[in-house]
Amino acid sequence: MYRNECFLQLKVFSIYKELRMKKLVKDNVYFVGKTDWELTKFHGDDFSVESGSSQNSYVIQEGKTVLVDTVWVPHAEEFVENLDKEVGLKNIDYIIANHGECDHSGALPLLMSKIPHTPIYCTQNAVKSLTGQYHHPEWDFHVVHTGDKLDIGNGKSLMFIEMTMLHWPDSMATFMTGSNILFSMDAFGQHYAIEELFDDKADHDVLWAEAIKYYANILNPFSMFCHKKIAELKALNLPIEMIAPSHGAIWRKDPMKIVEKYDEWSNDYQEDQICVIYDTMWHGTEQLAHRIADEIHAASPDTKVKVLCIATVDKNDIMTEVFKSRAIAVGSPTVVNNVLSSVGGWLTFVKELKFKNKKAAAFGCYGWSGESPKIIRESLTAAGFTVIEPEVKCNWNPKDADFDACKALALELAKK
Ligand code: FEO
Repeated sequence: MYRNECFLQLKVFSIYKELRMKKLVKDNVYFVGKTDWELTKFHGDDFSVESGSSQNSYVIQEGKTVLVDTVWVPHAEEFVENLDKEVGLKNIDYIIANHGECDHSGALPLLMSKIPHTPIYCTQNAVKSLTGQYHHPEWDFHVVHTGDKLDIGNGKSLMFIEMTMLHWPDSMATFMTGSNILFSMDAFGQHYAIEELFDDKADHDVLWAEAIKYYANILNPFSMFCHKKIAELKALNLPIEMIAPSHGAIWRKDPMKIVEKYDEWSNDYQEDQICVIYDTMWHGTEQLAHRIADEIHAASPDTKVKVLCIATVDKNDIMTEVFKSRAIAVGSPTVVNNVLSSVGGWLTFVKELKFKNKKAAAFGCYGWSGESPKIIRESLTAAGFTVIEPEVKCNWNPKDADFDACKALALELAKK
């Protein structure tokens, strides 16, 4: 029985592989990447994937055959096998490595073992990251800079644009003239699986929710670089008709809309929103959180107010809400002279994301020592928030005086 099941599974897998075909993107450009419906987390456990994802690799078949990026290691064998079947490995003239991170370069070692002399076009920093990870200094690297061009025949060429710190030092985008496609790498991407490839086929709300989650949780620390780069990109006046990122849907309906969004998001973005973020042991700090939210709403009825429990709400969704907020209040009870470990980990994560131009406040209950508001205040200050003076430090369970303190905190936090 077991052997029959194994045989059937192998048979199904081989049919699945035979069915996989390259997908037309535009003109002579095809998607040959991995649509990863099963992915649930990314960057270790740091990014929750809720709508699937993809590692987008593209092949250009003009006078020259060009491969733009590859896929993550677990899909390397399937990728190289399909590429051989659909394109023919020996037909690949050039490889473009827009970024060295292993979700896009993971199949390179296997691919290069079969076509070892194929030139790889990338930034100087990508030579370092690729060599550091795969230990093949003998690969035929060709270092490129912004404005360098590679002729690919049929009157078309590839122009390279360094995208330094978006989000790695080695990042680069590639613009294909004639077809007017910008292969933008991680920038403008989303963790979103879509068989039909394009934004106009996507669930619009989910697509944009994933795009902002991706920006808030991955690109926000580099907003300063992003803002400058978007200005540089616009100044190039490229006739962009399509933006093909390395994750998720390809933007073809109104490709510059996501560029404009990045311009906006990278400029100390905030909406009229305030989040109250907390964890609790015996519901005392939870009561404070709800009272603070209530008082913020009373003080500023047009402001969107959200209460988010660190223990139960996805941490990346919380960070997206922080990104959208103009202010946050963070609470934890004091536990053995410290905050709850969930809040401690969250404070580490929020510092990593380098939010700017946001107010914050601290609150929490305690039984006998009461360090949590001070710890939260110091952590949020170190994370770049402007922490307001009023705080709520509540001994045992909240009483009237503590609710009055919640009101004072809320009034100050709600001020624009
Ligand atoms: Fe999708 Fe930075 O890798």
